[in-house]
Parts: sequence; structure tokens; C-alpha cells
Amino acid sequence: MRNPFYYGGIVSEKYFCNRENEIKELKKDILNGLNILIYAPRRFGKSSLVIHTLEKLKKEKKLKYIFVDLMGISSKEEFINEYFNAVAQSLEEPLDKVINFFKNVIKFRPVIRVTVDEYGRTKFHLEFSPEKTLETLEEVLDLPLFYAKKGRNICIVFDEFQEIEVLGIENRLRSKLQHHSNRISYIFMGSKKSILQKIFQDKKRAFYRSVKHFQIKEISEKDWIKFIQDRFKKTGKDIDKSFIKEIVTITRGFPYYTQQFAYELWENTEKEVDEQVFKETLKLIMEREEDLFATEWDNLTSNQKKVLKLIVEKNGQNLYDEHILAKYEIKVGSLRKIIQILMEKDIIDRRENRYYLQDPLFEYWLKQKIY
Ligand SMILES: Nc1ncnc2c1ncn2[C@@H]1O[C@H](COP(=O)(O)OP(=O)(O)OP(=O)(O)O)[C@@H](O)[C@H]1O
Ligand SMILES: [Mg+2]
Repeated sequence: MRNPFYYGGIVSEKYFCNRENEIKELKKDILNGLNILIYAPRRFGKSSLVIHTLEKLKKEKKLKYIFVDLMGISSKEEFINEYFNAVAQSLEEPLDKVINFFKNVIKFRPVIRVTVDEYGRTKFHLEFSPEKTLETLEEVLDLPLFYAKKGRNICIVFDEFQEIEVLGIENRLRSKLQHHSNRISYIFMGSKKSILQKIFQDKKRAFYRSVKHFQIKEISEKDWIKFIQDRFKKTGKDIDKSFIKEIVTITRGFPYYTQQFAYELWENTEKEVDEQVFKETLKLIMEREEDLFATEWDNLTSNQKKVLKLIVEKNGQNLYDEHILAKYEIKVGSLRKIIQILMEKDIIDRRENRYYLQDPLFEYWLKQKIY
């Protein structure tokens, strides 16, 4: 019997838990041609949510989409080629048709190279001389307009959008995209909240207030209970609700960790989850993460460590309490400064006046270490 849980890459239908409301809202926004910003911590299920939604829309024949993954992109040339390749893939036509199409629509008659990667997938490259870079960028960015002309809705996703910060194309990108019709909806996503906030909230920058900020939250305990129990049952095993509640208390419903926990628990369970199997699984997961957390911890300054401990001890609230400042021997000014640094490093975040560690397992690990 195959494990009914999965963690790692993007999950589709088979391993996808709920998010019904988000899907509904996202569908509406995309079809209305809005531009959308989605940021959430790493491994939070951003890519899965967006692709899942777009696949649904595609099946309903409501749109085409182009997914551009900017992870690791470090130059304008790489950006152009990643983008060009994504457009070419989205055409879903035979090779010669795709090439002919591009030869007709790109003004400077480019050289198009096609290679096959190790997984047997076709990859498209554009060859152009360095002095033609900006011109090529603009032409390539306009390619989706051909879909729009055909009266089709289209959605273009830039995953890991924060990577464009260093490419020096922000202004050009913005001025190009804003002239695209409302048939084209852009989704900008990423995990570096601090960088993305600057790009979209700084008045001096091109993308200032050009998007709807789409919030995604953790998946709720109720949804996880149904998801996990169903899958145990379907594979001839049992799990009591109370264990799922315990999982979600530790993982806060964070998608990656919750799936990981369920996966390992299922593996370790013969027939029914019991206290011992649960404890062993938790131990196994924590042992596996230990090295990573210890390294992350070692990379912090002693003051930053103090502040993290303080946040854990005070459950993120009333941090400026006199007694606690005295106990940790820290001054108000430096506490404020360190909190800001930890926010910029995406280690902590704040919700409704409560600070918390972004990574729920890192927080759990730290709690075990302190108490
Ligand atoms: N809706 C969901 N239901 C169940 N599990 C999910 C869901 N979304 C994400 N996951 C779990 O989280 C893992 C990571 O998902 P995904 O790659 O979509 O996250 P991400 O936020 O794009 O991550 P990254 O920051 O690494 O790009 C998946 O492999 C899966 O185990
Ligand atoms: Mg992703």
C-alpha cells in the first residue's frame, strides 16, 4: 500500500487539502484580470495553491497560464530565457508550430534553440547579442498579448519574484506590464516577505500599490482532521482525532510539516496510531531537523538568541515588560532593533500584536531547548 501523504514538491489534487475559500477567491481575482501578490513563508503551499487553482481554470477552459519560476535567476539573459521558455511551453503545440509562431511575432528574427533536458522535457532558448538584451526583454514580455488578442484570458505567474530585485529590470517590467490588457492577470509570489513588501509598498518604487495582496493562512485543524483521517481509513489504518490535534498544535497547521508528520506516522503505524508510535515519530522528525535548526541557531548573535527565547517565553506578547527586560538584560532600544532585524531575516513575524517564529518546528525545537 502506498503512503497517502506526500511532502516536498508541489502537490496536486491527490495530496491537496482543502483551501476551498482561497481557491474560490483566487479564481475570481484571476478571471477579473487583477494583479495579485502572494507571500508566505517557505514550504507554506504557495506554489501548490496557485497551480492547483490554475489547473482547475484550465480544465474549465477559462484560461491559459504561464508559470515562470525565477528561483536562482541572476541575470537579465536568464530571466528572458526562463520567461521565453515558459511561454513556449504554454503553447502546447508541436515544435515546428511553436518555432514558426515565434519567428513570425518576434520582430528581430531571433535564433531559437531547442534542447531536451535530462527528464526528456523540451527547453526553448533565445539567442541574441548582449546589446539587444533590453529590446529582447520588451519583446518577450509582450508575447502573451497574442493570447489576449485571441480573446483568451491568461494568467502569468512569477514564482520567487523577489529574485528580480538584483536584475535591474523592475522599472521596465512594471511599465511594460501596466499596459497589458485586463485579460492578463499577473501573480507575483515569493517567500521573502521583507523584500516583497519593499517592492510593493515603497512609494518610490515602480510596483508601488500595483497589486492585490492575497493572504494565505495555515490550513485549519478541522480540515486536517478530515484530510488525515480519511486517508488513514482508505488505506486500512486508524488514527484518533486527538493525535491530529496534537500534530496541528506542534505544526500550527503549516502544510509541509503537517504532511510530513502524517506521512511518517502512517509509515510507522501497523493498524492504529498509539501513544508510543506518536512519540517515536515526533522524535524522528525532530532528530532529522536538529542539524538544520542548530545551524540556524549558531548563525544568530547572542542578542538575537536572547530575543527569540524571550518571544518563546512570553508567547510573543508584552515583550517590553520591565521584568522580562531585566531578566534578559536587554534595553528597550536594542530589543526594538533586534526585532526588526529578525523580521527582515524572515525568522519572526507578527500577527495581531503577537510575535512568533515563522517556522513552527524551529519554535518547538527552541521550546524543548529552553524548558
Ligand atoms: N493544500 C495543501 N494540502 C496538503 N499539503 C500541502 C498543501 N499545500 C502544500 N502542502 C505541503 O507543503 C509542501 C510544500 O508545498 P509548496 O511547494 O506548494 O510550498 P511553497 O510555499 O511553494 O514552498 P517554497 O517556498 O519552497 O516554494 C508540499 O509538498 C505538501 O506536502
Ligand atoms: Mg514554491
